[in-house]
Amino acid sequence: MTTPKKLFIKTYGCQMNVYDSERMSEALGGQGYVATDRPEDADMILLNTCHIRERAAEKVYSELGRYRDLKEANPDLKIGVAGCVAQAEGAEIMRRQPLVDLVVGPQSYHRLPQMEAQIRTGVRAIDTDFPEEDKFEALKARPKARRAPAAFLTVQEGCDKFCAFCVVPYTRGAEVSRPADRILTEARELVDRGVRELTLLGQNVNAYHGAGPDGDWTLARLIWALNDVDGLERIRFTTSHPNDMTEDLIDAHATCPKLMPYLHLPVQSGSDKILKRMNRSHTADSYLKLIDRLRAARPDILMSGDFIVGFPEETEEDFQATLDLIETVGYGYAYTFKYSTRPGTPAAERAQVDEDVKDERLKRIQALITRQQQEIQQSMVGRDLTVLFEKPGRFEGQMGGKSEYLHAVHVDAPQAKPGDMARVRIVESVRNSLKGVLI
Ligand code: 5AD
Ligand code: SF4
Repeated sequence: MTTPKKLFIKTYGCQMNVYDSERMSEALGGQGYVATDRPEDADMILLNTCHIRERAAEKVYSELGRYRDLKEANPDLKIGVAGCVAQAEGAEIMRRQPLVDLVVGPQSYHRLPQMEAQIRTGVRAIDTDFPEEDKFEALKARPKARRAPAAFLTVQEGCDKFCAFCVVPYTRGAEVSRPADRILTEARELVDRGVRELTLLGQNVNAYHGAGPDGDWTLARLIWALNDVDGLERIRFTTSHPNDMTEDLIDAHATCPKLMPYLHLPVQSGSDKILKRMNRSHTADSYLKLIDRLRAARPDILMSGDFIVGFPEETEEDFQATLDLIETVGYGYAYTFKYSTRPGTPAAERAQVDEDVKDERLKRIQALITRQQQEIQQSMVGRDLTVLFEKPGRFEGQMGGKSEYLHAVHVDAPQAKPGDMARVRIVESVRNSLKGVLI
């Protein structure tokens, strides 16, 4: 028997990259690769990159530089760059970094096996096409191995919204939804392999409009169909755009038993002037009204968001409007970013805010968010929640998992296994997690 080749994948950026890395690992499994978490043991290193903010691409180049010694020690080592930096920079990566053997964009991952065979003959390979064929179908060859209880499943990819700051419509391409039956089949297979919770992924997931047996399905239709999958206990979805938050989806939050009370709904700014310049096509007020409707449907829904500070022409007053909106909503989680100029996007051409002003605003917004997160986490103390156990905790007999609201919860549960669910009384809130006891 030949010894298997070893594959090290380093994943940057969003959850879709996590999903894609798993698919690539499985596709290369067919080429005789097994995964390793040590780059120094690898026969192939693949960086699955993110292009959303400036420093991400620079991080990739410096990471590649670090592999020079490994390649000198092992001339058979192959190095590939995948993901959105690969899509955006293409051949530039090969020019700038001669160590790189392979560059593959997100829409071409199903071609990885052929590309791998090519680089083994010493010929560098690049593919940043947007091919017609269904990459998900081609990537389907999954081994039957057990999976962790919580998994991602991509249902939609790409974006047509063209927010003025964002590279996603260029790197991931136009919005495409996968057919509903393929998603349901994949979901059932995942459940057979131990998955209990699915997070449906898409850059604009609530714009989902995949082909169903009776015409196009909305995301809500898909969620209801997944609700009927035996053995699947929890459904989440991310990331959503306020303008695609349709009535049936809001209603699903009220009535669909397996849909969790958690919603990531980025607003980016609380200033109408900035929202307009961001090309968001909603206002702060329409967003707040939407939150009211969601809370009317599901009063305990935990809100999560994304915010950009220092967008071109953002004044102190605009920034203050963002802080006011955050105060009004009350976020259980939020991700805050300094605006980062992306070449080729409309906002890159506008008058930029000074870096030190951005730094100062980032500190203030983060202080507010941290306070809110802590308060909401603290408010869970004394409540009885359901925890899906994912893995053993740091201490003997302890299990770690997630509540309905996505908070990490640690529980003394020596009998429990990953994939079990238990009712738990929350007794303490510690920095980034909760402590609970079995009821
Ligand atoms: N600069 C800063 N943050 C950005 N995001 C997207 N593009 C940029 C950019 N150019 C943030 C948005 C988005 C999240 C995924 O990343 O908040 O919701
Ligand atoms: Fe980018 Fe999201 Fe706007 Fe699409 S909706 S352009 S992915 S920020």
